[in-house]
Amino acid sequence: MNTTFPLHTAIEPGILYFGTPVVLISTTNEDGSANLAPMSSAFWLGWRAMLGLGARSKTTQNLRRTRECVLNLPSSALAAAVDRLALTTGSDPVPPGKQQRGYFHVADKFARAGLTAVPSETVAPPRVAECPVAMEAVLEATHPFAADDEAQDGSVVGLEVRVQRVFVHDDIRLPGTEDHVDPDAWRPLIMSFQKLYGLGSQVHESTLASIPERLYRGPDIDRARQVQTR
Ligand SMILES: Cc1cc2nc3c(=O)[nH]c(=O)nc-3n(C[C@H](O)[C@H](O)[C@H](O)COP(=O)(O)O)c2cc1C
Repeated sequence: MNTTFPLHTAIEPGILYFGTPVVLISTTNEDGSANLAPMSSAFWLGWRAMLGLGARSKTTQNLRRTRECVLNLPSSALAAAVDRLALTTGSDPVPPGKQQRGYFHVADKFARAGLTAVPSETVAPPRVAECPVAMEAVLEATHPFAADDEAQDGSVVGLEVRVQRVFVHDDIRLPGTEDHVDPDAWRPLIMSFQKLYGLGSQVHESTLASIPERLYRGPDIDRARQVQTR
């Protein structure tokens, strides 16, 4: 048996954010203006995403009311713009919990970040022009999180959204293909323990990658195709 590996130590970190991509979610405020917020507790299965969001954030309120959003994925080159949105909220007044952590209200987050809003095809919230990926999506379900604990129940929600348009910059498309993203060209921004990182290069051949992407295509793609441009 190999005994050269390091031993584990039990620790209690305050957060378990070991590294996930940053998403800039655009939503529509009550007055029709756009809100934009960074988040990173997100994962995708097929053309659906699960978003872990604080229930009191403006984004959650907007998404629950309008059922529409855009999931904009910034590249690591946009880290400074994302960082300008840190500690800001579209909520006015700022909720007390956020006030304590130093959050402040910003009405125009696009201007604050120095990012450009462009009209979406199927939803009211705009896409972020500078983001190499933008997915227009609609809210399909709201899932409870930590509902087993009275003290936490309702403070965070899992918002399940269904994607109905995927837009990418041409320079991250795999040359010679229609619908493939080149993972060597796509450079996501990663949040790990509240800090911002890029990805390194590929570290190993992937056996999983022997499965053609088309075998994953599910019914949500056909459904998305039926959605008319507004
Ligand atoms: C890089 C980054 C990642 C974040 N990830 C999350 C997250 O996954 N979930 C969440 O609720 N808030 C997250 N936040 C905090 C939100 O951005 C914050 O709650 C913000 O006030 C939301 O804006 P809004 O109130 O205008 O919706 C993150 C912030 C940053 C800067």
